[in-house]
Amino acid sequence: MPDKKRYGQFTLLELKIASLKKLITETETIKIAHISDLHVSGKQDRRQLENLDRMFAYFNREGFDHLVISGDLSNSADPADWRIVREKLESHGLYHWDKTTVIAGNHDLINLEEEMRFYNALNPLPLARKKTFERKLTEFCAFFQELITGEERGNHMFPFVKIINYPSVRVAFVALNSVYPWYPADNPLGARGVINPGQLRALSLENVLAPLGECVVIGICHHAYRVYGTDSLIDQAFDWTMELKNREEFLSLMKVMHAKLVLHGHFHRFQSYAVNGITFINGGSFRHTPQRYSELLLDGQGNCKQQFVMLP
Ligand SMILES: [Fe+2]
Ligand SMILES: [Fe+2]
Repeated sequence: MPDKKRYGQFTLLELKIASLKKLITETETIKIAHISDLHVSGKQDRRQLENLDRMFAYFNREGFDHLVISGDLSNSADPADWRIVREKLESHGLYHWDKTTVIAGNHDLINLEEEMRFYNALNPLPLARKKTFERKLTEFCAFFQELITGEERGNHMFPFVKIINYPSVRVAFVALNSVYPWYPADNPLGARGVINPGQLRALSLENVLAPLGECVVIGICHHAYRVYGTDSLIDQAFDWTMELKNREEFLSLMKVMHAKLVLHGHFHRFQSYAVNGITFINGGSFRHTPQRYSELLLDGQGNCKQQFVMLP
């Protein structure tokens, strides 16, 4: 017979159930999936679309709490490819603010062939090119507005911070745009990245930093902090074409935010590495290895386990 003695307004049984529930809640593990660099190329890209279906169905079966896609959804900056990804997310019930976060990659915003053709024909001023680039970024943000703001109205530009209260832990996803316009001398492949000063400033404001104190902070950008990073001259030349130009400023910001993890893509390699106490995770390339993803498990104390997983 359960003990019915009252403790304040509760019986001992009720207290035991409450503390058990608290224990279950605190130990509940949050599962985050991370993929990157889908490089979808139209509806005729059948194999890739089937791969997306397979991966999203798997995330649902395995009960993932959140999915991060860190850029290069499209291969040639075609909004029709963004639509394909959006429709796939919708059809699997993943197209919700609290379910999925997406950011843009250089292949979402820059069509290199078009840039070069246009440049050779008209030689537009850098300012005009910058404006065109900003329009494309705005188009991307408007397209994925629901995943950025969770509302019909509201600011839907980079950077954005998404704080989600899970039963056991509060997670802040801090998303920045690192794509930088194509310039013939400074960014000849359109693959170098920059976090612009406006984003760095916006995220350094006290009213942004204060609520992050109780969160596990996860930074998201497209470009890698580290590409090859070796002494080889060939590697260094490649690094230059791919690098995040102001990566040290970005790292300082992530330190100020007490970020635990940074998720990125761009350099098509599945890898994780630590820089100044922050774990960077490269989500590799879904285009090349569509059965592999990065899995993050967060517990109620904010401890994180990460591994790259192959679909069974
Ligand atoms: Fe890519
Ligand atoms: Fe990229």
